[in-house]
Order: sequence, then C-alpha cells, then structure tokens
Amino acid sequence: MKVLAFVSQKGGTGKSTLCRSVAIAAMEAEHSVFVLDLDPQKTTLDWSEERQRALPEVDAVRPDQLETALATLTRQSIDYVFLDTAGRDDAGTAIAIRQADYCIVPCRPTPDDLRAVRPTVATIYRAEKPCGFVLNQTPPGRRSTRVQEALTGLGAVNRVCPTPIVTRMDHQDASSLGQGVSEYAPTSPAAEEIRKLWRWVQGEIGGVRHAKAA
Ligand SMILES: Nc1ncnc2c1ncn2[C@@H]1O[C@H](COP(=O)(O)OP(=O)(O)OP(=O)(O)O)[C@@H](O)[C@H]1O
Ligand SMILES: [Mg+2]
Repeated sequence: MKVLAFVSQKGGTGKSTLCRSVAIAAMEAEHSVFVLDLDPQKTTLDWSEERQRALPEVDAVRPDQLETALATLTRQSIDYVFLDTAGRDDAGTAIAIRQADYCIVPCRPTPDDLRAVRPTVATIYRAEKPCGFVLNQTPPGRRSTRVQEALTGLGAVNRVCPTPIVTRMDHQDASSLGQGVSEYAPTSPAAEEIRKLWRWVQGEIGGVRHAKAA
C-alpha cells in the first residue's frame, strides 16, 4: 500500500480537486483506492456524499487518528490511499506528511503561490519524504511564459509533473456532482491531463503490486 498526500500550506491550490480526480483515475486503472479527508472543512467528504457510487470509499479522520486508520487499510489490501489535507501550516498537515510515502504539492502559477511552496517543502524535507510539484489552474498552452517560468522555478526546487493542469470548468462541474473529471468528461483534455498526472505519480513512486493480482 502506498500513501499519497496532497499538501500545500496555501489555500485553494487544488489539493481537494486533484486528490479526488487522481483517486478516480487510479480506480479506473483498476487499483483499489481509499480516500481520507484530513481537512476539518471536509470538502472531500462532502464531495463523496454527492456521489451516486459506492467507490472509492471516503472517510474523514483527524490527524491523530491517521496512523490507526492506515494500519486498518493496510490489512484490507488497499493499493493506494489518497490524503486530502488542510491548506495551512499546522500539526495535522505535518502528521499527514510523516505518514505519506509521497507528497504531491499543487501550486498555481502565481508569484504568491510560488513563494508559498517554501514552508511546505521545508516540512516535507524535515520529514525526509519524496515529493513532486504539479502546476494547477494554469492558462491554456504550454508555451505560456507564465507556465514556463513556473515550471522552471519549481524545477529548481524539486521534481515537477511535466503536465500542467489547465483551468477548466470540467473540474468544477465534476466536483459539484461528486465525480472525478475522468468520470464526468472521459474524453476531455481535463481528464487526459489528470490521467497523465496519475501516470507520472505512479512513475515517481514506482507503483505497487496489484492487490487484486496478489
Ligand atoms: N484545474 C482547475 N480548473 C478549474 N478550477 C479548478 C482547478 N483546480 C481547482 N479548481 C477550483 O479552485 C478552487 C480551489 O480548489 P480546491 O478546493 O481543490 O483547493 P484546495 O487546495 O483543496 O483548497 P483548500 O486549501 O481550501 O482546501 C475550487 O473552486 C476548485 O473547483
Ligand atoms: Mg481542500
């Protein structure tokens, strides 16, 4: 089992949106998936209550319950646990980082967001965890100077997913229906970007042996 945490100690970068859609993409790739919402706002738990489908299972836990929850999931042969975390620098986020095998740090291509990755990365480094950035809510077009400068700036700090996630209404529409974007609009560019992000993350962490094939 691998635990993947979406963290950024800045609000609104896309942790919940990407966590949910990547979890759905992993499920569509036939992995067993569980999502844990550590954010007291419970955005992802609320999203799951809109869903008309049983999977993936989603639960909300307090950071002090996380270790026990993960021990239980390990016994259930879950392939990937996705952690959605609160957008602030607190003890709960630090606990999620310590429990994670890999941290995904969403960042918008704005000067404020780019500056704000530093404390997040510092917490991840202190916990000696591997991490990667994903640029989210970008303008369309990889040639955009803003996107290129952000990719270069983040790349100087750590590894970066080469696929930026463009600002697209499909993400918001999927969220409001309790869906991942690849369920809501399977052939859309938004879905394709999410699948690329998932494949990149899998490459980063080396994947896990398929529980169903075990
Ligand atoms: N790629 C995208 N395209 C369009 N809208 C997006 C995209 N990513 C996120 N959003 C929107 O941006 C807003 C913030 O996203 P989200 O809630 O996922 O951020 P967050 O990091 O989880 O925020 P918080 O720190 O408050 O938990 C939401 O309204 C979401 O629908
Ligand atoms: Mg959130």
